[in-house]
Amino acid sequence: MDTAAPTTNVTMDEITALAKRRGFIFQSSEIYGGIGGFFDYGPLGAILKRNVKDAWWHEIVELRDDVVAFDAAIVMHPDTWVASGHVAAFHDKLVDCRHCKHRFRADHLKNLEKCPDCGMMGSLTEPRNFNLMLKTSVGPMEDSAALAYLRPETAQGIFVNFKNIYQSARKKPPFGIAQIGKSFRNEITPGNFTYRMREFEQAELEYFVPHDGKDMEVYQSWVEARKKWYSDYGIKPDRLRFYELKPEERPHYALAGTDVEYLFPWGWGELESIAHRGTYDLDAHIKLSGKDLTFFDEATKQKYVPILIESSAGVDRTTLTMLVDAFDKEKVVDENGKESLRTVLRFHPKIAPVQVGIFPLARNKPELVEKAQLIERGLRPHFRTQYDEGNVGQLYRRQDEIGTPFCLMVDYQTIADQTITVRHRDSMKQDRIAVAQLAAYLAERLTY
Ligand code: GAP
Repeated sequence: MDTAAPTTNVTMDEITALAKRRGFIFQSSEIYGGIGGFFDYGPLGAILKRNVKDAWWHEIVELRDDVVAFDAAIVMHPDTWVASGHVAAFHDKLVDCRHCKHRFRADHLKNLEKCPDCGMMGSLTEPRNFNLMLKTSVGPMEDSAALAYLRPETAQGIFVNFKNIYQSARKKPPFGIAQIGKSFRNEITPGNFTYRMREFEQAELEYFVPHDGKDMEVYQSWVEARKKWYSDYGIKPDRLRFYELKPEERPHYALAGTDVEYLFPWGWGELESIAHRGTYDLDAHIKLSGKDLTFFDEATKQKYVPILIESSAGVDRTTLTMLVDAFDKEKVVDENGKESLRTVLRFHPKIAPVQVGIFPLARNKPELVEKAQLIERGLRPHFRTQYDEGNVGQLYRRQDEIGTPFCLMVDYQTIADQTITVRHRDSMKQDRIAVAQLAAYLAERLTY
């Protein structure tokens, strides 16, 4: 799949600059110099990320009758992470430079002879394990008895609640449990903007299946469902790949695994992992807790630990993918023959933070302003709208940069004959349509 040599037409510097300028993503606590691996979503970024989550939730939960919703606490009993294997094995190997005090992931270094930052030979320590879970303490005492972790994945909340959920929801395998929520990992080298963060969000589906020999089929059907989801939201097919893990690349208990990868400006990066995890997770909690998390089938009177198929996607990475994938620059020529570059985010209409921009031709003409505001208020319950006013060229440029699919311009003709200009983001073509037809016209193009 590597052979097609697809390319991205944007740099991360362009993405971070646009994200800040237009209010998508800011460095966390910027006024204090920031804090590595933490980011804040601005007014448009918060909507973009919500739209990504809604798109996932709609497909995985709302459109299916075999998946139920869930929302677990971030802090769980610390034994959870003993059973899951995170206490013993969720670590990276790191080395320190004794000279410049910088710290590196051992697997990121070409050799361990010389510090890549200060160049000192023999200054690196032996690699040692660094657990990636963020610690906190619960209650008034900060001793070891109060130690707790901020969850490094949302999945464990589902596993420990398996029985509560299937009994209360009256579900029987095959069925799934879906959850979107924050996870925390004390990454040694956060970076590439919001790609590797220390606080991030995951959208996880845990799908439980019986031992009827169809588990690999179900696994494959989830891989296909996820392919369709990315395609439905317009991710460029030559920048997306589904990499099937080789047996030596999978955990020992996993029977199959696929990484969903996107071609970012720095190369391929993982967006999601889809895995056949056997009965490993429930078995581990049954063993440590001593509680019965098996499924009891009333019909056959059989008890069993269901097989798990997991799809675990990163919300921030998917949001970043939407930004990178939508980014485009094209040469445009104005009426005076002057060439310039137009930056445009070609978001899918369902993902775009603003779907319709509405402006008066001149901000100092009350009848145009009132009419534009009236139209905006009428459309607001149905679409994500934004009223704005100012220089027409600048208004269009701004809406292009935030990826608004349609802009409406109220002019004197609108007052005279109740028609309005609709400008299309992608083609920059303009249609003149009746104001009375607007809602239907937009609905047809924005809500498919
Ligand atoms: N429950 C399985 C699990 O957590 P994972 O491959 O470790 O699997 C799933 O994580 C997804 O979570 C990744 O594909 C990625 O999108 C996201 N993710 C993991 N670590 C992340 C980080 N440090 N920053 C942003 N997203 C991350």
